[in-house]
Amino acid sequence: MTDLDATLAELQKNFAAAAAGAADEQALKSVRVAYLGRSGEVTKVRRTIGKLPPQDRPAAGKAINDAVAAMEARLDELQRQLEARAFESELAASIDVTFPAIPPQLGSVHPVRQIIEQSCAYFTRHGFAVVIGPEAEPDYYNFDALNIPSDHPARESFDSFWLSDTVLLRPHTSPMQVRTMQQHQPPIAIVAPGKCFRRDAVDARHLFQFHQVEGLLVAEGIHFGHLKGMLTGLCRELFGAEQKVRFRPSYFPFTEPSAEVDTTCPKCGGKTSSCNMCGGSGWIELGGAGMVHPNVLREAGYDPDRYSGWAFGFGVERLGLARYEVDDIRRFINSDQDFLAQLS
Ligand code: FA5
Repeated sequence: MTDLDATLAELQKNFAAAAAGAADEQALKSVRVAYLGRSGEVTKVRRTIGKLPPQDRPAAGKAINDAVAAMEARLDELQRQLEARAFESELAASIDVTFPAIPPQLGSVHPVRQIIEQSCAYFTRHGFAVVIGPEAEPDYYNFDALNIPSDHPARESFDSFWLSDTVLLRPHTSPMQVRTMQQHQPPIAIVAPGKCFRRDAVDARHLFQFHQVEGLLVAEGIHFGHLKGMLTGLCRELFGAEQKVRFRPSYFPFTEPSAEVDTTCPKCGGKTSSCNMCGGSGWIELGGAGMVHPNVLREAGYDPDRYSGWAFGFGVERLGLARYEVDDIRRFINSDQDFLAQLS
């Protein structure tokens, strides 16, 4: 054995001990620098090659290179072992596979949509068809054809957001009465849900964008009793049998006679004068209704001496107030997840 062989054997023995004692990546790095770094142990041995006879130098160089390759392989192996151990302890610390999973957050049908669907289901059960109309309408469908000429004061209360001199965002769903009657011959039985827009100041009872459900029945021999029966049935369906329904005389240019339809306040039942839901009146207004005005039938091309009909338009969010005993209509539009989850 040459001196170089003995030196390399001693160096590898010391390296093996130092590498085996390296407990973490930092210690392993120090061993790499101490033995394989520019001023490390191997470099010191390489410098001795110059003192050897020229014919011995290639074998000496090869012996050193072999030793370096073996040390590098050992260091790489130890590095991989340390990484695997670190990964395993990280897994063990952060993942408890027996811990119950976080349940996914499921959405639900919005209460306004629930009321629209339930109302439509009630009417389709009674043979009505559901029709959907445009949200931007010419003033003809919004007003003129509904017996509200351009100089009629009732336009003011319905006035909305105008998109041009003649087209506006509809303030009610009643234009669908006209559109349906002009396209079909009686008998007609439709329900028309949809968005409406009004330049009303927003408060606990009003939104500038809300929903209505419109209904229309036209045939021979239709009278106010049919209207009362159908709307009382709808309120029973939505609120239960205990809720009372009241038809209060009112005025709409497109119905005669006309009524406002109210239901008993679900919060106070009409017994508390300070109730913040009904203002102490004991009743919540749901919408308007009445017998279709002869002028509206005539404009649609129907003979008012032969045909009669009723129509109604209920505010969906107002139905929601009564149904869910909600004190403020704005709750339906502010996307409060806790509120919506309670009504799902
Ligand atoms: C009408 O819109 C009539 N077209 C209803 C009608 C149809 C009468 C067919 C006769 C025959 P009114 O303006 O009262 O009527 O509105 C009806 C309902 O819509 C109101 O009772 C209320 O429930 C709802 N509503 C009206 N304005 C708003 C608003 N700004 N915010 C929320 N709901 C509203």
